[in-house]
Amino acid sequence: MLPIIETERLILRLINDEDTHDFYEFAKLPDVAHLAGWRPHVNEKETKIVIRMSRDKIRFGQLGNFAIILKETGKMIGTIELHSYTKDYKAELGFCLNPKYWNQGYITEAAKAVVIWGFDEVHLKRIEAHTFLDNLSSQKVLEKLNFTFEGIKKKGYQAHDGKTYDVKAYGITDDDFYNLVRKNGIKQ
Ligand SMILES: CC(C)(COP(=O)(O)OP(=O)(O)OC[C@H]1O[C@@H](n2cnc3c(N)ncnc32)[C@H](O)[C@@H]1OP(=O)(O)O)[C@@H](O)C(=O)NCCC(=O)NCCS
Repeated sequence: MLPIIETERLILRLINDEDTHDFYEFAKLPDVAHLAGWRPHVNEKETKIVIRMSRDKIRFGQLGNFAIILKETGKMIGTIELHSYTKDYKAELGFCLNPKYWNQGYITEAAKAVVIWGFDEVHLKRIEAHTFLDNLSSQKVLEKLNFTFEGIKKKGYQAHDGKTYDVKAYGITDDDFYNLVRKNGIKQ
């Protein structure tokens, strides 16, 4: 069961049907969808199905997708999740934000909280992430979160249209994370 996580400006909670309209606002945008690794949604009905499918995965042992809610307005402005979860081992961090809200530190804030939850509560040993080579913004977020760049995976990702892409691989282990906490108090 996903917790409700509160940060300075955001609430993270399990995505639900009420998020359909706000989610569709950015899930339909081809450029955003491409970077996030999904096919652009064609209508709100599709968005609702995607939400239902992501909730269904919890019944099969996955952790679930957080909706990112802006406290100030109550608007759902993005999604963040630890997907591809293997119990007592690892998961992959994925995130996407409505472009109206880019470059205001929201994903760094949300992802920091999700990484802390992943290590402290889910007891992961490793969190990994992959980005397209030209997704500089996403790479910057991962670097700010102290993920290590582990190399380029050639043809490491296949998109919904069958095209393959080289991707940058990043990871952080529980040891890296707790060493940082001890040294820098990064939870503060
Ligand atoms: C990636 C994404 C989630 C970032 O969200 P965000 O809330 O804008 O991220 P933040 O504001 O926390 O941090 C972005 C950082 O990238 C930097 N940045 C933005 N564009 C950049 C560029 N072209 N080159 C280098 N750095 C860039 C910003 O300056 C910021 O760094 P700073 O805080 O040191 O100034 C958002 O761009 C997005 O939703 N993209 C589409 C989906 C996606 O790419 N998902 C990730 C798949 S791996």
